[in-house]
Amino acid sequence: MKLLLLGSGGREHALAWKIAQSAKVDKLFIAPGNAGTAAVGDNVDLRADDFEGIARFVIQSEVDMVVVGPEDPLVKGIYDYFQGHPHLSHLPVIGPSKAGAVLEGSKDFAKSFMMRHGIPTAAYRTFTGEQVEEGCEFLATLRPPYVLKADGLCAGKGVLILSTLEEAQSELREMLGGMFGGASSRVVVEEFLSGVECSVFVLTDGKSYKLLPEAKDYKRIGEGDTGLNTGGMGSVSPVPFADAAWMQKVEERIIRPTVDGLAAEGIDYKGFIFFGLINCDGEPKVIEYNCRMGDPETETVMLRLKSDIVDLFEGVAQGNLSERTVEFDERAAVCVMCVSGGYPQAYEKGFPITDAMVEGSVVFHAGTALKDGRLVTAGGRVIAVSSYGATRAEALQQSMKGAAQIQFEKKYYRTDIGADL
Ligand code: AMP
Ligand code: GLY
Repeated sequence: MKLLLLGSGGREHALAWKIAQSAKVDKLFIAPGNAGTAAVGDNVDLRADDFEGIARFVIQSEVDMVVVGPEDPLVKGIYDYFQGHPHLSHLPVIGPSKAGAVLEGSKDFAKSFMMRHGIPTAAYRTFTGEQVEEGCEFLATLRPPYVLKADGLCAGKGVLILSTLEEAQSELREMLGGMFGGASSRVVVEEFLSGVECSVFVLTDGKSYKLLPEAKDYKRIGEGDTGLNTGGMGSVSPVPFADAAWMQKVEERIIRPTVDGLAAEGIDYKGFIFFGLINCDGEPKVIEYNCRMGDPETETVMLRLKSDIVDLFEGVAQGNLSERTVEFDERAAVCVMCVSGGYPQAYEKGFPITDAMVEGSVVFHAGTALKDGRLVTAGGRVIAVSSYGATRAEALQQSMKGAAQIQFEKKYYRTDIGADL
């Protein structure tokens, strides 16, 4: 079959790497892709949210399946666009409908969905611009730290955690006053949960689901998880506390009620669900839902998924996912992200990258481009080194060797990915 993958980051390179290993795929296209995806398929110069351009390409190139990497096209309704297209309504699109993507696109919807289905999460209230004073009064009833979440998509910047009531009230006023534009016209104020986070992923056909390997990501720029938040500095899989007993709680209390809840509400959902969980004294709670895979979690999850991912996608499309099998690799995987100096604040692009082939590791490109035939940096997160190991420590050591070997000006990476576990 011919498969088109949408997106351009490290997540998409990892998905493309895995898809390209499937005997079911004769041709893989990635739109727009990056310099790394060009090595496992054909990049197509189309933006992931250019629905009309994508539809034209799908018809012209006789694409049999579309897999959506990032949330943006899903939240904008790419699934529904194809369903309503006169010639493409039968095209399998791996990713939820617009109504399903709201699980990620609106924090308020996600919270009320969890309340309706008894799914464990932090206590909360949602406030609009007219309710600023009420919101400030509500904050005064909570204990610090305070968690404020813009309702809509903010490229990962919409969550604020504040240590004093004064700061929290002042930020709430700013958010409701338009700090993130329309995305913060509603703000979720919620209870702070303390514990270690874990990302759990499933693929669902809307009725049954299959668990994929779990992972943990490292969001802060500095060693010891300090400093500013980033798109992700690395990831590990498996996560030690996510043992069989914990995962059973996750399945019974969170995954099953979510999949059943979507079906009961008549929401068409055929794709990945990313459960951002936190382990509160042994009890899993939901921090957030995403309607796609995680980045950089995918860069370890794909290493540990032994089964043919395209077979699973077919199960999703045909509604017989329950008949497919998922096998995990028993080894540990660790991903270390090399980023541009200065990131997540101002940084320069266009530096040549050399020695980017690492023996004994899998290298995934995140922000790279080809300029006059040379590989150059093209983003904050540049290139991820993922490795297997008999233990997490062994996998980390191998990925760090790779991160040290790859050269570009002002390169930075963390050396402690997974060390806290
Ligand atoms: P989100 O965009 O919802 O993933 O939030 C970003 C990050 O903020 C999460 O990964 C958590 O580390 C943190 N966070 C969000 N909500 C809470 C909460 N209720 N308690 C503690 N930390 C939180
Ligand atoms: N790694 C977190 C995310 O992809 O949102």
